Amino acid sequence: MNRLLIEHTEGLYGRVSIQGAKNSALPILTATLLCDDVCVIENCPNLSDVDVTLDILSSLGAKVFKDRNNVTIDSSRANRHRISKSMMAKMRASILFLGAVASKMGEVELCLPGGCKLGPRPIDWHIEALSKMGLNVSCNCNGKLYCKVEEKFNGAEINLPLPSVGATENIILAAVLAKGKTIINNAAREPEICDLCDFLSKCGAKITGAGENQIEIVGVNKLCGTKHKVIPDRIVATTFLAATAMVGGNVKLENIVSEHIKIIIDILRQIGCTVNATFNTVQILSDKKLKAQGEVITEPYPGFPTDAQALFMAISTVSKGISVFVENIFKNRYKHVDELLKLGANIKALDRIAVVTGVKELRGNCLNAKDLRGAAALVIAAMTAKGSSILTGAEYLDRGYENFESNFKKLGAKIKRI
Ligand code: EPZ
Repeated sequence: MNRLLIEHTEGLYGRVSIQGAKNSALPILTATLLCDDVCVIENCPNLSDVDVTLDILSSLGAKVFKDRNNVTIDSSRANRHRISKSMMAKMRASILFLGAVASKMGEVELCLPGGCKLGPRPIDWHIEALSKMGLNVSCNCNGKLYCKVEEKFNGAEINLPLPSVGATENIILAAVLAKGKTIINNAAREPEICDLCDFLSKCGAKITGAGENQIEIVGVNKLCGTKHKVIPDRIVATTFLAATAMVGGNVKLENIVSEHIKIIIDILRQIGCTVNATFNTVQILSDKKLKAQGEVITEPYPGFPTDAQALFMAISTVSKGISVFVENIFKNRYKHVDELLKLGANIKALDRIAVVTGVKELRGNCLNAKDLRGAAALVIAAMTAKGSSILTGAEYLDRGYENFESNFKKLGAKIKRI
């Protein structure tokens, strides 16, 4: 059941409450491994990537109990340090266990992570940073990494070449129980980094500068348990806004942090939508008569998020005029272009550049999803297209969107899993 039948939809109407953020829940759940007693994580989204993280925690000896969106984790007796290849391969965030397990157990055996194929996704910055903090890494011929720290990580000053989200998170996970001070220069500034640091600070970690480009962590001897509510998912919020902009209608998002999607709101207003925002709600009205966005350049937060690129490319296929996309974060994040062309879009893509000329209408077709956010972009384009479409690869959506089709159905979308 990994295919979706999507039919032309004449507008989306109603309200939707936004789920907890996948890219915040995953590092926070991983970080619970470092705590000496029970953690309760609330507003945790029901996603396949969350299930993988909980499976890895259980395989390391942690006690995990999930009750809908609340997860209780007791890592006090976690005592294993090996993570299976199959679990590592299921998602990118499994690499965060490198810092967490090495910090807790003094050693870790794992292999390269999986995740959406967005071009090469090396972990060199993770390894370089943790090696500078005392991690000894050796690997065998089939890519398994054997890592050890002598006693504990040592604090260090780390200069990241780019504000890598995952590398920033791994360094934080290694530093909170390290000996001495760690400074991360050119740190990622995403809201998910702040949420991870909020959680760890509640557990007793000493972290300053979260959300800035320099983060300082002074290692402590232990971390206690705590209760923490995960922030709302800004990319899921963006998905519903992009869908309404493109398909037309009047939708109100609830339980969000509008500050986290300021740049998205600005662009939606520029292309012709009416957007009313309060601190924790955003309402969008669209008559589908949209202007081209002009230049869309992906940048680290607070710039235009790479995870929204495919969604706004979908919008631009039926906007009046020409839009130029520049994907600066990943080398190959245009796998949705060929699929949008099947719907009748006019797109020319080369390397990191894609030029989109809006067309009057799209027509349904058979589509193949190749990654999480590309899949969502294809769905909203198919809703706008005349006729019906079949999307294969719907399992990608389950990695990042809780109740994807039922939430859209409630807004009037003609979509069902087949
Ligand atoms: C996180 O991926 C997110 N994933 C991605 O969301 C998001 O697109 C990305 O950050 C934005 O930067 C999770 O949080 C689980 P990076 P991550 O390290 O940490 C290069 C989604 O759809 N790089 O910031 O892997 C890398 O190749 C996903 O939810 C190195 O060269 O991203 C990329 O070009 C997709 N060496 C760039 O940096 C390294 O050691 C940014 O990657 C690490 C990264």
